[in-house]
Amino acid sequence: MKAEVTEAVEIITPALEILTSLFVFAVGLVFLIIVITFIIDINQNKNAILRNYPVVGHFRSIFSSLGEFFRQYFFAMDREEMPFNRAERDWVHKAANNADTTVAFGSTKNLNPVGTVIFANCPFPTLDEDAVKTSDIMIGEKFCQQPYQAKSIFNISGMSFGAISKPAVLALSNGARMAGCWYNTGEGGLSPYHLEGGADIVFQIGTAKYGVRDLEGNLSDEKLCELAAHENVKMFEIKMSQGAKPGKGGILPGTKVTPQIAQIRGISIGEDSISPNRHVEIKSADDLLKMINHVRKITGKPTGFKSVIGATDWLDEFFQEINKQGEAYAPDFITLDSGDGGTGAAPMPLLDNVGLTIKETLPLLVDKLRQYNLKERVKVITSGKLITPSEVAWALCSGADFITSARGFMFSIGCIQALKCNRNTCPTGVTTHNKRLQKGLDPKNKATKVANYVHNMNHAVEIIAHSCGVREPRELNRSHVRIVQDNGRSVTMSELYPEKIGG
Ligand SMILES: Cc1cc2nc3c(=O)[nH]c(=O)nc-3n(C[C@H](O)[C@H](O)[C@H](O)COP(=O)(O)O)c2cc1C
Repeated sequence: MKAEVTEAVEIITPALEILTSLFVFAVGLVFLIIVITFIIDINQNKNAILRNYPVVGHFRSIFSSLGEFFRQYFFAMDREEMPFNRAERDWVHKAANNADTTVAFGSTKNLNPVGTVIFANCPFPTLDEDAVKTSDIMIGEKFCQQPYQAKSIFNISGMSFGAISKPAVLALSNGARMAGCWYNTGEGGLSPYHLEGGADIVFQIGTAKYGVRDLEGNLSDEKLCELAAHENVKMFEIKMSQGAKPGKGGILPGTKVTPQIAQIRGISIGEDSISPNRHVEIKSADDLLKMINHVRKITGKPTGFKSVIGATDWLDEFFQEINKQGEAYAPDFITLDSGDGGTGAAPMPLLDNVGLTIKETLPLLVDKLRQYNLKERVKVITSGKLITPSEVAWALCSGADFITSARGFMFSIGCIQALKCNRNTCPTGVTTHNKRLQKGLDPKNKATKVANYVHNMNHAVEIIAHSCGVREPRELNRSHVRIVQDNGRSVTMSELYPEKIGG
């Protein structure tokens, strides 16, 4: 027995000695790091906090970057976060997963603030047997060789291959095909992954004309023809501006310019891809109309433009010119983006404070179209934080024909609003070209979620429409939506815009 104890002590003692030495070494190392950090901190003159509070001052930046991750889980209330709060994100995640989207006990939404939208329920809601299928809309009918019959109210807004990853593009294009909605390429050109999914594609002509420019950077009719020859490419959208950065072209940071993206765009690998602030040849409303008509003539497909509205006087000039030239000269659609729209990367002042939101500009644009008798001819597509059914229904009431979303669809394929789109470090693989991070995004699985999101969105908008007493969402109009005023009472949109009642 004694011999066994002695043997055990002989084994344990050296192990303990090694552990003690390691511990002393670790403590010594930590102490050394603290001393070195202390010396560096008090001798540097770039950071006041570190100079005044050496070593401990580092916790401030550590906590503030960790806060970005923890706030959404532990501290922020359901309706607090920006750009999208937890309640909105949860609705999208549940819709994408085909999970139960009902909630219990009561609304967490404060219905009192000025501007709150409330739908006017009808005392005699529509019965299931009286409801009808949402009608398709033909875009470019009578004026294009190949008009486009669009089936879904809710569609995928422009996000370029570059801003988002290959698996994300595959998930969106397959999901769009399954859902019967369209998918806008964004300004980065048409990639093989857009086509692989088989969705209806809206090709966006960005200000750098990626995918559709000649060697000098001008619009190439040859490339336009090649693109139009793809059966899946259904429409062409000239991008004037987007809500997140009006007056600034697209920005794709060099870290995201991979060899393939460089090849598709015709630019150098690893260098920032900065598009011009506007199309060089479009200096006026007249130039814009000329470009629209040129693209439509070459491609034979519906052509329109995307813009966020700030100044409004140019719209009169624009519509007057159309009235002068005749209906055929009009764009087939206008995509109206909101000043609070999203992006992969933008300067903060533009993101925050330039360009009006669609709350103001959507009714304004629709009214202008009615004023010039063009509402039937020019379809209105709109985007900007329209990711849940009530927002989509509001846009329909205001007069939009279609709603598109970028960030809603990002949520549907797993985005967690980590706000890292500009860094190539997106933790969910949506906006990164890092292969390791992309592993989390399985295009097949996520395509189903995209389709679920569209189906559940369309279904939930139908529920609102039926509650308002109409047979389908396209019958919603401004009398169905009430807006809370500063006296605490609500008025219908048709009262706010008295001469322009109608859907
Ligand atoms: C990652 C990302 C990339 C985008 N890329 C483009 C683009 O290439 N062209 C464009 O017109 N808009 C682009 N947008 C803007 C969206 O198409 C959309 O207009 C805007 O985000 C508003 O919709 P949302 O609120 O549903 O996101 C991008 C947005 C995001 C989030």
